[in-house]
Amino acid sequence: MVQHSDGRFSAYDLPPPSYDPLLTQVDKGTPAGELLRRYWHPVLKASELDAEPRPVRALGEDLVLFRSGHGEVGAFHARCAHRGADLRYGKVEPQGLRCCYHGWLFDARGRCLEQPCEPDGGRLRDRVRQPSYPTRELYGLIFIYMGPLDQMPALPRYDVLETLAPNQEIRADDTSIGSGGPAIMPCNWFQAFENVMDPYHVFVLHSTFSSVQFSELLAVRPDISFAKTPGGVASTQVRRMRNGEDFVRVVEVLLPTVRISPHPAFTTPGPCTNISWYLPIDNTHTRIFTALRVPKWLPKFKFSEIPVYEGKSWFDMTEEERRRSPGDYEAQVGQGPVTFHSEENLATSDAGVALLRRLFLADLQRVRDGVAPTNVRLDDGPAYAVAAGHTFHPSAETARTQAP
Ligand code: FES
Ligand SMILES: [Fe+2]
Repeated sequence: MVQHSDGRFSAYDLPPPSYDPLLTQVDKGTPAGELLRRYWHPVLKASELDAEPRPVRALGEDLVLFRSGHGEVGAFHARCAHRGADLRYGKVEPQGLRCCYHGWLFDARGRCLEQPCEPDGGRLRDRVRQPSYPTRELYGLIFIYMGPLDQMPALPRYDVLETLAPNQEIRADDTSIGSGGPAIMPCNWFQAFENVMDPYHVFVLHSTFSSVQFSELLAVRPDISFAKTPGGVASTQVRRMRNGEDFVRVVEVLLPTVRISPHPAFTTPGPCTNISWYLPIDNTHTRIFTALRVPKWLPKFKFSEIPVYEGKSWFDMTEEERRRSPGDYEAQVGQGPVTFHSEENLATSDAGVALLRRLFLADLQRVRDGVAPTNVRLDDGPAYAVAAGHTFHPSAETARTQAP
């Protein structure tokens, strides 16, 4: 902080603000851009891939995804390999995607199958490849891998999404900002993601400052501890309830983009049954995809449509009501397109955020050193055993007083 010797302080004395490019910049060739390109990222719900090509932006690259008539999913650079027409205006055909400009047809792997304006349909067409990325479909989401092929990891699986009772199913959601908001957040992905390891904000922003947006239980000030885990960071939040029981809420992040957080509107006991991925669309836009295990009878709903203010969801609130009862969207987008780290004053409650940043920066170094970063596994292994969830048990204090 700039302060004169007599204690006076003026914002005029602040140096120009800046952000940490290592935490925030996702373009190819940047340290974080290269780290993020070592992982699979969901970019669309599988249900969004129908007969039309879908424009998608991921890690600062404009792409077009499609499902060919034969069922193969392609993820292309948006610019056609011929002369750059935007393939979002292309047509999906049984064998692949046809560009609107001169009709070149590409299969899902980018091989050029037809060049209708060339002699014999394109004698040299085998020399052309439309730039494309590998794709996978899992948990109702389309994942793509945008990194070096020889480093392509296995697509991780999660035990809570693998073991389904006969009456359960997996659903995909792409609007799961904590207390609601539009699917795309106009802010940097890291400031959104580090919020997961900022559990202190729950009892202020979501409970005592705004109206109670989630469960009343979360309005209790918790005791919180953070721990480094093999895959990232976990927070353990203990809230003493009026009946003397402890409500224990565990939230995990897995590097670099995975959130495992029981939805705070539901405080039922048990493991967390939803997994979320933060997609850095580019340096100033973020989208959260979620796969949830739910009972089949549960009516279709979106996380963002859960009521958070006088029975209204974020979408039904007026601007005035959002000022009166702001939530995650207002707090995180309000930090700016890319938050200024130079102007922060981190405190003890930011221990989880600080730990997450340190681990992320350590992974950047691993990639620079040619070492696999956290959670990259080249071969299929067992599904990740989720630790996040809610438990209720007698507090140590209650147990003592009830002891014979
Ligand atoms: S630009 Fe696509 S076929 Fe010519
Ligand atoms: Fe929140």
